[in-house]
This record gives sequence, C-alpha cells and structure tokens, in this order.
Amino acid sequence: MTDARKIIAVVGSTGAQGGGLCEAMFGDASAEFACRAITRDPGKDKAKALAARGAEVVKADLDDVESLKKAFAGAYGAYCVTNFWEHFSAEKEKAQARNMAEAARAAGVKHVIWSTLEDTRKLMAPTDKRMPLLQEKYRVPHFDAKAEADAFFAGLPVTLLVTSFYWDNLYAFGLAPKKAADGSYGWMLPMGDKRLSGIAAEDIGRVAFAIFKAGPRYIGRTVGIAGEHLTLARMSDALSRALGIRVNYQAVEPDAYRGFGFPGADEMGNMFQVYRDFEKEVVGARDVEAARALYPALLTFDQWLAKYKSRIPLE
Ligand SMILES: NC(=O)c1ccc[n+]([C@@H]2O[C@H](COP(=O)([O-])OP(=O)(O)OC[C@H]3O[C@@H](n4cnc5c(N)ncnc54)[C@H](OP(=O)(O)O)[C@@H]3O)[C@@H](O)[C@H]2O)c1
Repeated sequence: MTDARKIIAVVGSTGAQGGGLCEAMFGDASAEFACRAITRDPGKDKAKALAARGAEVVKADLDDVESLKKAFAGAYGAYCVTNFWEHFSAEKEKAQARNMAEAARAAGVKHVIWSTLEDTRKLMAPTDKRMPLLQEKYRVPHFDAKAEADAFFAGLPVTLLVTSFYWDNLYAFGLAPKKAADGSYGWMLPMGDKRLSGIAAEDIGRVAFAIFKAGPRYIGRTVGIAGEHLTLARMSDALSRALGIRVNYQAVEPDAYRGFGFPGADEMGNMFQVYRDFEKEVVGARDVEAARALYPALLTFDQWLAKYKSRIPLE
C-alpha cells in the first residue's frame, strides 16, 4: 500500500523549532502529514529517537545545496530554519537560507515556512549611534540576516514566520538568574521596564504545524508569534514563585551588557536594546492571540515554568 501522507521536510529536526514541529506531527491523529527529519548526522541520539517515533530521517547539510535538493524531493512542505549561533556569521546564515530556498524551488514544494526575524536596521537611521554596527553593516546580525534572506524565498509558496525570544534560553543559553552572596538571585538584562516577546521554543514548531495544516490561506503571509509579552519584573516574580527563590531583576544599560565579554555579548546587547527601545514595534509584530488561534495549547510563561523549571540551573 502506498503512503498517501504529505511529507514535510523539517530542517532543524534535532533542534528546538524543528523538534517541536516533528512532535506536533507525531501527535496528530489525522496522520495527514509524514515527518521527514533532516539532520547532518542520522546516527546521533536525537535523530535515532525521531526515527523510533516514525520519522524518515534524511541526511543533508545547509552548506550543501545538492544534499538539500535530495532531502526536499517529493515533499509537500519544507520547514526552513538556520542556526546562527553555531557560527555567528550573518553571511553564512544568508547563504544557508539561499540554499534552502533553491532546494525548495527545485523540489516544487507546495508550502515553505521560513523561520525569520525582522530587519532591525529599519527601526533606526543609519546614523543612529545608540548601538554599534556589527559585522560591518548589521544592528542585530541574526535578525537582519534572516530578514534579508526573506527575499530568497520570494516567488515560492512561503509563509514568513517571525519568532520570539525563547524562554528556554533560561536553561539552554546561559540566561538563568545568578545567585548572589545573600542567597537571592539577580537577573541582569538590558530591558528596562519594557516587555520582552517570549515563547516556549517547542511552540514555534507547533504553530508552524498548524500553519501547514491550514494550508494555502497562509501562503504569502507574514505571521509573527509570541506566547506572552512580559516585563522582566513580571517574569522575575513568576520565576520567584515557581522556583521558590527570590529573583531580583536588575536593569543594566545595553552598553554595559555589551561589555560583559561573553561570546555574542555585543549581539545580545543590541538585540535586547531593540526589544527595549522599540517595544511597540517588536511587540506589535508578534500576535499572541493569532498564535493561540493556530495552536490553542500555546504555553504561557507560568505554564512553561511548570513544565521546564527543573531545567533552570540555580548556581
Ligand atoms: N534562542 C532564541 O531565543 C531564538 C529566538 C528566535 C529565533 N532564534 C533562531 O533560532 C535558530 C536556531 O533554531 P533552533 O533553536 O531550533 O536550533 P537548535 O535547537 O540550536 O538546533 C539547531 C538545529 O539546526 C540544525 N543545523 C544547524 N546547522 C545545520 C547545517 N549546516 N545543516 C543542517 N542542519 C543544521 C541542527 O541539526 P543537526 O545538528 O542534527 O545537523 C539542529 O537540528 C537561530 O538561527 C536563532 O537565531 C532563536
């Protein structure tokens, strides 16, 4: 018997966004779609776990367009995401996005979702001195490069999915509150009293799956999503309650944050400054209710904490 299911080729299947999409497909009773999980290493544990759940695991590399063409061949849909944080290069991120778009075109994919972010350079004049230019011409390279890459997908049946800050950064990206000498916890971020658009990383893939299911009416659209828009003070209160500790939010200036010196501190400093200085625009580009309409079980920050608080390192 032939398999009539529509294949969705998932880039980043072993990661947060693509992993959430694969999970959504595994849990879908209609069995309308089949998961083709793309990875550079089908032998890794996460890839084997996807195969055990029923995914077709296919090897491909974003740096190798021919491998992507093979991986997308015969697919109905393709979820396209890059991982800036593996190489920190805007130019490489754009080249990888171009390869995915070319492969989607060659394969005649019917619906592409490109996981993107906005061009932060449009929010301020080129002469604006509030934050440095990075990699010569970007404000927030991992935002601006993704936005530039939107153009590669032009002419394809694409949905541009504008994502938000993962709350999972608290355990996966070194952004947990840090213990002070008096036993309380300090959470130092350059966000002032402005709201941060956040989301459970897994929910990005779950919303993406709902977009694939909804089909043609999302083609040609830009969809910005978040789980909640919360001030750091509100998030600190929620963390305090969930973890049974006292978390004190400490607003620092972006310049100080950029000077902390960890890898990517300048990039992160610029990013948080965009969230802070352009709260209205950033929040306005991400619609919680639209995300919840697509995926009604979308997690709030409190619900995310209930599920993941044990992963947050309290050192
Ligand atoms: N952290 C945040 O708050 C946040 C918010 C919004 C957007 N983002 C964006 O999310 C992106 C990362 O997505 P994620 O968090 O889902 O990733 P992740 O969990 O770090 O995992 C990275 C995924 O990308 C795949 N990958 C990386 N390089 C690849 C290559 N050359 N060829 C094929 N696959 C490759 C990896 O697959 P294999 O290793 O198995 O090959 C893995 O599945 C970044 O570009 C970031 O800017 C992050």
